[in-house]
Amino acid sequence: MNATDFLPINGTDHVEFYVGNAKQAAHYYQTAFGFQPVAYAGLETGLKDRASYALRQEKITFVFTTSLVPDSPVADHVKLHGDGVKIIALWVDDARQSFEETTRRGARVYQPPTVQADEHGEVITAGIYTYGETVHLFVERKNYRGVFMPGYKAWEPHYRPEPVGLLYVDHMVGNVGWNEMNTWARFYSEVMGFSQLVSFDDKDISTEYTALMSKVMANSNLRIKFPLNEPAEGRKKSQIEEYLDFYKSPGVQHAALATNNIIETVMALRDRGVEFLKVPATYYDTVLDRVGEIDEELAPLRDLGILVDRDDEGYLLQIFTKPVEDRPTLFYEIIQRKGAKSFGKGNFKALFEAIELEQQSRGTL
Ligand code: FE2
Repeated sequence: MNATDFLPINGTDHVEFYVGNAKQAAHYYQTAFGFQPVAYAGLETGLKDRASYALRQEKITFVFTTSLVPDSPVADHVKLHGDGVKIIALWVDDARQSFEETTRRGARVYQPPTVQADEHGEVITAGIYTYGETVHLFVERKNYRGVFMPGYKAWEPHYRPEPVGLLYVDHMVGNVGWNEMNTWARFYSEVMGFSQLVSFDDKDISTEYTALMSKVMANSNLRIKFPLNEPAEGRKKSQIEEYLDFYKSPGVQHAALATNNIIETVMALRDRGVEFLKVPATYYDTVLDRVGEIDEELAPLRDLGILVDRDDEGYLLQIFTKPVEDRPTLFYEIIQRKGAKSFGKGNFKALFEAIELEQQSRGTL
């Protein structure tokens, strides 16, 4: 780790979603994505105004929170944005210091350092705002041995569908407003000490209709990677604009979840009802000319719609789900890296054409 890093981060601690019905969202992520039940908080644990379910698959922890009352920050968030990511929690060794270093550099305060304790120890959290109403919560849990956090009890339902091989959060992408990409790239570099990995502009990523610009910001050990997209002027409405119209503010566009066997993972997800974007079949006529030799057979990749891209260090396999809410907002990427450290730039054009077909069917192109 970089000795001058003022914000050392161990990894993604968890992602918290504010949703209309946490019980049903938790069921969906168990059934469709293979997440395992971990912890619950709600009326039975002494909460009056909200309920939360924590689920886990390997290193990925998702929390689904809903409001039990009409007037609360959770209810307001869901009313405005629909279901979406509220908190990208970052696992740190010192939450107080993380808070001080970032707020000193201009971060807007979400929550000052707070100690929560139970019989399993204590967790210290502190939060700052990033784009839109999205929050980074610093989580210090070195003195905690419970299942998730104080305030939660173990959640042990009978229903436990198998995992599908998802391992960790590879990256999380934010959609920001017109001309705001550089503002937020600067936020991540100046306030959080991240550096820029790559950038794309509208000449790299444009189709007849869609255009966007993107920069990827990463922390010093590269465990946290946050691509940022802003819309660019195209002939018709871009997918980033469509997101902003429906989410009503900047927010998380997709989370990329890593697997070691994308063919098996995607087959399992598909069988459990997860819907994926399909690129035109012609993509597979030329893909090997573009990326060269790969370990996988082409046929299952084509059947499932898995995309391939190569960079200087290797290749990657990736696929994108359709949005997982009725608003065309948050979706997932499933990614398997075989050396490549990039994000699939070579697939953007084919992908955007697939997304535009979907937009057309929604009447939002
Ligand atoms: Fe991605």
